[in-house]
Amino acid sequence: MAEQSEKEMLEEYTALVESRLYDVFPPEVTPQGEVVKAAKYSLSAGGKRIRPVLVLAFCEMCGGKRENALDAACAVEYMHTYSLIHDDLPCMDNDDLRRGKPSCHKAFGETTALLAGDMLAILPFETIAGSASIPDPAKAKCIHALAHLCGAEGMIGGQQIDTAEAWNELAGDVLISMYSMKTSALLKAACLCGVYCAGSGDEEKYAEAAAEYAEALGLAFQIVDDILDVTSSPEVLGKMTGSDADNDKHTFVRMYGLAKAGETAKEYTEKAMNALECFEDNEFVKMLTMSLLGRKK
Ligand code: IPE
Ligand code: IPE
Ligand code: MG
Ligand code: MG
Ligand code: MG
Repeated sequence: MAEQSEKEMLEEYTALVESRLYDVFPPEVTPQGEVVKAAKYSLSAGGKRIRPVLVLAFCEMCGGKRENALDAACAVEYMHTYSLIHDDLPCMDNDDLRRGKPSCHKAFGETTALLAGDMLAILPFETIAGSASIPDPAKAKCIHALAHLCGAEGMIGGQQIDTAEAWNELAGDVLISMYSMKTSALLKAACLCGVYCAGSGDEEKYAEAAAEYAEALGLAFQIVDDILDVTSSPEVLGKMTGSDADNDKHTFVRMYGLAKAGETAKEYTEKAMNALECFEDNEFVKMLTMSLLGRKK
């Protein structure tokens, strides 16, 4: 497939997600409208939409129709946006800039930001359960994957370790398992949702490969995120740089240096690419995976 058409495919997937993302939102004019406004503010601030695109792409790689996975794709982006709103709160990373705009708590205050995050953490389940296009057998599987992988053994567990204070106790393997939980887990939920929405006869095989792919992609993705925190600028990145050092965070870059971090991100990316081999039409996801390694934001 030519590079141009892969770029077009990314645009198509992204446009499809954008066209559905706000459909399930309650109106803003009610007395509680501020929380809806805040959630929409963060959702529309300009994220890369990597996770929902992966939902759609994995569904198609497993022989499904992208429309059948669209509600699950939106659900995953709600969950991701909630994690960012809470991640930026003063009690977590205390970051004032997100997706090129003032963080949710800067624009709406801490209370509303907290509630907007809560709202976006619950909305995925309403969206999937009430979907008219996700095949029925896939709904419970998507909900289970998302809930489990974002819970104490997944994203929340990773965020707990990330924000804990006993940094001197953090060994290299704990760092990697923290990255696996805080970043790979949601990517895994995204890829698995795509597999489930396709409803292929080879679901078990595809789910295993998708999980292996997402695990490696997430580690590479988080290491690149750590590198950009040191090497980029707020103008390019859309979030404050130097945030990890300011928060005295243990990151791969801090532990092993920039050069080793770059090499390791490349190794995990190769691992992710290998996991894609069992999918037939994997050109698009391969292109996306490589582009994330060299991303500027
Ligand atoms: C940021 O994710 C959080 C991490 C896991 C590092 P993204 O870099 O995908 O953020 P958006 O969605 O593009 O804003
Ligand atoms: C965030 O890691 C992972 C989440 C689960 C939100 P970071 O704290 O490094 O993400 P950024 O750099 O603020 O986007
Ligand atoms: Mg954080
Ligand atoms: Mg952060
Ligand atoms: Mg970061």
